[in-house]
Amino acid sequence: MSIDQFTITRPDDWHLHLRDGEMLAAVTGHSSANFERAIIMPNLVPPVVTTAQATAYRDRIMSCIPDGHRFEPLMTLYLTENTDIADLEAGAHSGVVSAVKLYPAGATTNSQSGVRNFDKVIPILERMAEIGLPLLVHGEVTDPEVDIFDREAVFIDRVLDPIRRKVPGLRVVMEHVTTTNGVDYVQSGGDTIAATITTHHLIINRNAYLAGGIRPHYYCLPVAKREEHRLVLRAAATSGRSRFFLGTDSAPHPNDAKEAACGCAGIYTSINSLNCLAQVFEDEDALDQLEAFASLNGPSFYGLPVNRGKVRFTKSAEPIAFPKQFAVQNDHVTVFDPGFPLHWRHQPVHDNEV
Ligand code: DOR
Ligand code: ZN
Repeated sequence: MSIDQFTITRPDDWHLHLRDGEMLAAVTGHSSANFERAIIMPNLVPPVVTTAQATAYRDRIMSCIPDGHRFEPLMTLYLTENTDIADLEAGAHSGVVSAVKLYPAGATTNSQSGVRNFDKVIPILERMAEIGLPLLVHGEVTDPEVDIFDREAVFIDRVLDPIRRKVPGLRVVMEHVTTTNGVDYVQSGGDTIAATITTHHLIINRNAYLAGGIRPHYYCLPVAKREEHRLVLRAAATSGRSRFFLGTDSAPHPNDAKEAACGCAGIYTSINSLNCLAQVFEDEDALDQLEAFASLNGPSFYGLPVNRGKVRFTKSAEPIAFPKQFAVQNDHVTVFDPGFPLHWRHQPVHDNEV
């Protein structure tokens, strides 16, 4: 029997790009309308590398939250070979810093200041393991000899597994996992490793950006892979298994930066992620697992309380109209088009209705 209504704990987004300045002002309300908390990526220009910078960035985000919305940004530091351990530890103890992000230098947008020599950061990772601060990894090697479709698998072998053997207590989130290799590695990796999965990697495979013309609004990093990988991601996300949870990796770029001879990576899903996910989970006959994926597994791994608020999803006969794009910085940001109509909407459940 198909259902047309269900209620879950208010979701969180465990991987989000909000940017800064005008873009931050334009996009924060989309996330706060849908999510209670989000892990905020630090790849600004210049990157967020100190606790003072994370505190200031958090204040700028807070000032962009629309009236009546409730939203808690969970800040991260951008790991460099020169990260100051004492500063990082102070940030973690004060509650400002929730995690540290590792970008291999050159792997993606604004990753130039990332890590080149992984041995240099081992003392930092050892301290993080001692204090229980999670490391969030962009899991792709940057070696030009390695095919872009293999970069996640090679990262696991060459970088991630050696790091985890050297620093066994380190808690790691493989961000935006895209391959069977990644899912298998997390699945067999014990209690110290988890993975986020994006909305778009559950929906598109590599045909979306390559077949029938280059479609830059489906280009992101890690790139979407073959269909067989997408199916493994869907199985993991809808399984209810506790070490897979939602991180949208929603990453706004103005259209002129995407629709270019060298277009940048990023897909914007903050507006319609939850509507898309409800459809994906319904298609997989797994609506009863959406709460685990979007609302329960993330806080469990991060050791945070589950949100108190609830949201009710209802299915309408008419599809919901989302804007195709929205204006910002004298340009527009294109919204992710899942390629199917969206019928699930959600709204907060008020305390007196629970
Ligand atoms: O597609 C992506 N966009 N992947 C990333 O790793 C970075 C992000 C961005 O910041 O635009
Ligand atoms: Zn990202």
